[in-house]
Amino acid sequence: MSSNEFYTSLNAQLEGLLSGERDWLANTANASALLFMELPEINWAGFYFLHGDELRVGPFQGKPACTRIQVGTGVCGTAVASGKAQLVQDVNQFPGHIACDAVSVSEVVIPLYDGNRCLGVLDVDSPRLARFSSDDLTGLQAFVQILLDSSDLPAF
Ligand code: SME
Repeated sequence: MSSNEFYTSLNAQLEGLLSGERDWLANTANASALLFMELPEINWAGFYFLHGDELRVGPFQGKPACTRIQVGTGVCGTAVASGKAQLVQDVNQFPGHIACDAVSVSEVVIPLYDGNRCLGVLDVDSPRLARFSSDDLTGLQAFVQILLDSSDLPAF
């Protein structure tokens, strides 16, 4: 299966899962479970939500993780500070990377936006170097957009 086919199928599953439900917490919880179940070679998938200058862990699947991350710190905080998705092939080469689990070696982080208001990030980690490609980034950006469009967004 090509990457394109994989994400077409994954994103159709997400649409099905969220259909008829607009609760943000419920939808982010189910979205993290879907990612963890379907994405091969990952060990963590979930959300951090933005409260002021701080990200706080939200629904996720995987081992317990750092609870709070300051904007501008680590991969997640860099995604928020820059407003740009982060595709990190080797976290040990990323200055300030926060190691919640020493097994994680590559990572993709996508900021969540409601217009120009940042709500937080989606973070997916892998135990394999360079696990994520630009196709994963594109597919996950579409995933995040479905989630945002299908949910009533919180004020935080
Ligand atoms: N590695 C992230 C922290 C979150 S955990 O990976 C779940 C970072 O550097 O922001």
